[in-house]
Amino acid sequence: MNFKHIIIQGIPKKLPSKKTYDSSVNRAPKRKDILSVKEKKLAISNALRYFPKIWHKELAEEFRLELANYGRIYMLRFKPVYQIYARPIDEYPAKIKEAAGIMMMIQNNLDPNIAQHPDELITYGGNGAVFQNWAQYLLTMKYLATMDDKQTLHLYSGHPMGLFPSSKKAPRVVISNGIMIPNYSKPDDWEKYNALGVTQYGQMTAGSFMYIGPQGIVHGTTITLMNAFRNILKKGETTKGKVFLTSGLGGMSGAQPKAGNIVGCISITAEVNILAAQKRYDQGWVDILISNIKDLVLFVKKAKSKKTTVSIAYIGNVVDVWEKFLIEKIDVTIGSDQTSLHNPWSGGYYPVGISYEEGNIMLKDNPKKFKQKVQESLRRHAKVIRAHTEKGTYFFDYGNAFLLEASRAGGDVMNKDKSDFCYPSYVQDILGPLCFDYGFGPFRWICTSGKSEDLKLTDKIAEKILLNIRKNALKEIQTQLDDNINWIKNANSNHLVVGSKARILYANAEGRIKIALAFNRAIASGKIGNIVLGRDHHDVGGTDSPYRETSNIYDGSKFTADMAIHNVIGDSFRGASWVSIHNGGGVGWGEVLNGGFGMFLDGSDLCNKRIKNMIFFDVNNGIARRSWAKNANALLAINKEMKKTPKLKVTIPENVNTSILDSLF
Ligand SMILES: NC(=O)c1ccc[n+]([C@@H]2O[C@H](COP(=O)([O-])OP(=O)(O)OC[C@H]3O[C@@H](n4cnc5c(N)ncnc54)[C@H](O)[C@@H]3O)[C@@H](O)[C@H]2O)c1
Repeated sequence: MNFKHIIIQGIPKKLPSKKTYDSSVNRAPKRKDILSVKEKKLAISNALRYFPKIWHKELAEEFRLELANYGRIYMLRFKPVYQIYARPIDEYPAKIKEAAGIMMMIQNNLDPNIAQHPDELITYGGNGAVFQNWAQYLLTMKYLATMDDKQTLHLYSGHPMGLFPSSKKAPRVVISNGIMIPNYSKPDDWEKYNALGVTQYGQMTAGSFMYIGPQGIVHGTTITLMNAFRNILKKGETTKGKVFLTSGLGGMSGAQPKAGNIVGCISITAEVNILAAQKRYDQGWVDILISNIKDLVLFVKKAKSKKTTVSIAYIGNVVDVWEKFLIEKIDVTIGSDQTSLHNPWSGGYYPVGISYEEGNIMLKDNPKKFKQKVQESLRRHAKVIRAHTEKGTYFFDYGNAFLLEASRAGGDVMNKDKSDFCYPSYVQDILGPLCFDYGFGPFRWICTSGKSEDLKLTDKIAEKILLNIRKNALKEIQTQLDDNINWIKNANSNHLVVGSKARILYANAEGRIKIALAFNRAIASGKIGNIVLGRDHHDVGGTDSPYRETSNIYDGSKFTADMAIHNVIGDSFRGASWVSIHNGGGVGWGEVLNGGFGMFLDGSDLCNKRIKNMIFFDVNNGIARRSWAKNANALLAINKEMKKTPKLKVTIPENVNTSILDSLF
């Protein structure tokens, strides 16, 4: 059977032969053994629902073993034998192109060259799942292959509940991931209900099929790093010879060395997992691998004296590097951390003092001790960062819940009166005021033809549009536009593509709409093939996350999540091809709600309307919320938008004189 036939078949007619796990593949850590015997039976019974009775006896024992060995039932036997990667759109068996576009996005998220733990259907972040198991994948692909444009597929945390009649204007797919009754959203609830096979952690772009490899994050990381340096460098200083120390070469964190090179500094990224580091090295995302700390010190000292731009992956624990650099008096200009602390007890963060392999054994055999070690390590981590920041390092939290978990572990990360963290998050200092409040966010597009020529042409189109917008832009957003014009000019030569032919660009509502309309025109005239538009959930209006995207909201509403819900519902009836709403993403289960969309451009007039209507709402809903919280830049942006768009009527806050409040108490 060929690729198309296998997809149309869904769950195979004949039981596939048993598979063994390939030890060369980067495997997910064993998850917590949290279920009672009764619950284990329920988990196995839940898994067997996907298969004919005749297979149950054989599969039941196999699934019991998967649960015992891995803590989850992945149904590896059903992983298809064909290669999974973003094949061009015409290669999918689909009745409608929109569905084929979605299939392509799924394939990209599960491509072993892209996904962090491909066998376990994890794209990034240690637990960012596309599906919970291979049966869900097979069924979803089949539904997409057979659906028409008057049906909508509803996915409950990876499980395809089914196709329901809808209309041409409705989204083709509606996705929810990890949505829980609020009281059941503690980390152990994820462990339990994920093990039962009834929910999953979709991260942001994993469970929404919008991951485009590390490029997606290189751009955001470059912007963040560039502005972090702008915040700290003295007049006349440049990034040359300056050190950026961080950790993580995983799904998103793997972008840091590339961003360091684009910015022109010396970056050191510690990574405990040699496979993760090797992958980034093989892809050309990091210049050199060093596993001996003495060699690292010598190399960095030399690079500093020669002011070389270089990115170094240190194979080992980041705490060791911070401590060694303190002893060796190596000044760190900028420091951050991108271990997966949104998932601290299940392998997101490896404690200092034990090897990666020892850590994995402890995680499996003694999770309680592992947790203690993580907390000890976080305290040591916080202490050494404090010593560096007292000498002038600018440290910021990179949205990975480092400050949150370090504070919970009793680490020294609080300010004097213990009311807040003593370090900013990258959103508070950088992305919030400079980007999100103005509507700039990680807009992206994917050329479904798979052709590099299409991507090049779209780069040119986007550049031309940004240059035009720049001519009459507010002075407050000119730097943002310049950074993005530079980015898009160099994007092709920076060789950023891994997987599907995709591009990311930070643009505001005006930029996103104009670029999308121009793409739609190019499709209509046959210059390029169909395009999928989307964005990271990590954006202006998609995500309510008090320690990250909405950390620069100061009216108390940062602990509410209405914006993300309105975002997804609002996008769904304004023209999205698919929408998704997730609990957890970046900072952890129960800590964030985030939403996103995908839009398939087919060159039609209807598509023009969708672009104008949906993208306008997608961005301005977020700006409106930010302006209601009295963020000055958001107020400026929304007032400007209201002048241009008479139908937009946003409630604007009045300022209160603080003396009135002070006189009350
Ligand atoms: N890049 C961004 O712009 C961005 C934005 C927001 C949030 N984040 C957050 O950053 C975190 C990382 O994301 P990811 O997708 O790269 O996750 P990931 O799990 O793929 O990668 C994290 C890496 O850190 C390594 N690691 C863990 N503990 C370590 C230690 N003590 N020393 C050295 N290495 C260690 C792991 O081996 C792993 O490869 C997540 O929490 C994510 O939400 C990133």
